[in-house]
Formats: sequence, C-alpha cells, structure tokens
Amino acid sequence: MKLIHTISELRAELANYQRPALVPTMGNLHDGHLALIRQAKPLGDVTVASIFVNRLQFAPHEDFDTYPRTLEADCAKLEAAGCDVVFAPSERELYPEPQGYKVMPPPELADILEGHFRPGFFTGVCTVVLKLFNIVQPCFAVFGAKDYQQQMVIRRMVAQLALPIDIQTGTTLRAEDGLALSSRNGYLSEAERAEAVQLSLTLKGMIAALQQGERDIAKIEAQAMQALTDRGWKPDYMTVRRRHDLQAPQEGDALVVLGAARLGTTRLIDNIEV
Ligand code: PAJ
Repeated sequence: MKLIHTISELRAELANYQRPALVPTMGNLHDGHLALIRQAKPLGDVTVASIFVNRLQFAPHEDFDTYPRTLEADCAKLEAAGCDVVFAPSERELYPEPQGYKVMPPPELADILEGHFRPGFFTGVCTVVLKLFNIVQPCFAVFGAKDYQQQMVIRRMVAQLALPIDIQTGTTLRAEDGLALSSRNGYLSEAERAEAVQLSLTLKGMIAALQQGERDIAKIEAQAMQALTDRGWKPDYMTVRRRHDLQAPQEGDALVVLGAARLGTTRLIDNIEV
C-alpha cells in the first residue's frame, strides 16, 4: 500500500491505472469505513482511500480541532483491508489558498435535516468531494448509508454536474447492540456509550409504529423526540421521510426514518430504511 500526501504524486501513481475506486474519509477508521474499502475493491483496478479532516464542513463551534487524527493506525487498517493507495493531503495541499469557489447544493435537499442544523455543511462536503473527485478521477466512489442525506446530496451532484463516476452506497455497520459505528462514538463516556443504543432503538420504535398502522407521522416524530428528551438527550430531529428526496412522505412512498441527537456533548446521527 502506498501512502501519498501530494496531488502530483497521487496523479503520477494513478497514471498506472484505468479505473480507480475511491472511498473518501476523514480518518479515525472503524469497521464501517473498512467495509466500504472491501466493497470498493472489486469495482476498479486500484482502490484509493482519502483521509482528510475537511475544515470547510465544520462550523466554528464544532469539533474540527478535536476530531481524532490517527493516520498510522488508519494506514494499518487500510492495508489489512486491501487498500492500494492512501491519499492523506495536508490542509495546505488541498486548500493552498482560501477555497472561494464552492459547490452550492440545492436548498431543498441540502438545507433540510443535517443542513438545517449544520448550515453550510453540505457545501463543505460537496466542495471537498468534488475536489477529491477531480484529483483522483475515480470511476467508482463508495459512500456509507450511515450518512443517508450525504450520499444522496453527492449522488445528485454527480448527476447534475455529469461527472463520469458510479456512486455506490454501503450499508451501515453497527456494533452488537445496534449503535451505528462512528468516529464520534469515541467521544462517549462509558455510561453514554451504554445509552447511545437508544438512538437506533427509537428509530426502530418509529418503524414499529408505522408497521402497526399508525398514519399520524407528526405524532410518531413527536413521541420519538420526547422519548429521547426524557432520557436526557437533546434531539435535533427524529423524522419519517420518503427515501427519494427526503421530503415529507405521501401514501405509498418508500420511507426512511432519520434521527440526530446530542448525548452530552456528542452529536450522533442514524437512519433506517423502513
Ligand atoms: P467520515 O465520517 O469519515 O465517513 C467516511 C465514509 O464512511 C462516509 O461515506 C460515511 O457514510 C461512511 N461511514 C461512516 N460510518 C459508517 C458505518 N457505520 N457504516 C458504513 N459506512 C459508514 O463522511 C465523511 O467522512 C465526510 O463527510 C467526507 C465524505 C469524507 C467528506 O469530507
């Protein structure tokens, strides 16, 4: 496996291949990330992981400075998973000057849910992902369903900007108790870690209510918010949406339940397709 820090070296290395498959990450890798690498591996003729904590997608009060940076351990895991090339640019390499050109995703998709509670988040994500796409020029890129809205925003960007990239989505990997794996789980205390499973349990409760024939979606959402609040969480949203555009569902739509909530100072997100 090659560890590469500069765009020019990466381009020189990738000149030897025709069909790169890219898995963009911010590092501090867990089995969920590695599952994406394994999914990417058979797609192309070279598997590239990028590791870059992207300042553009963090608000000033968020955890950019404390986000765990564990390059050595990440590389060992990537090598074991069969990754061929790790691209880990410095901030100066990726943003040598202030990034004035940015990708503005459409508000109806990018200003709801995560985008509502993290203004500018998807502009930051789309801008860095487009830049990584331009650097790697992958034929395939794999994103996790854990960040449901993110993979949707990126799919739309690729479609609307006619990028010749096949976007694949990997299923969410979970711990044994059902908590979705996340780099931010590392922020949780032991007691919070035990409590954290309630996010996915509450989403499952919302699905159970739907399956029992409850049609009052506002009621299902309010009950889920209240259940978490009663346990000491600060939920941003617990919601039932239609899968294709994440808007309020109508009868017959395929559904997904999505939630985001703060436990102590840690913000967790999860979703489950109904
Ligand atoms: P990061 O949070 O490191 O996630 C990298 C990729 O791993 C994303 O596609 C994410 O959806 C996926 N992922 C995270 N947890 C997962 C899990 N439990 N199961 C399956 N996949 C999981 O998402 C980002 O980084 C950034 O926004 C990025 C796209 C790299 C742009 O900066």
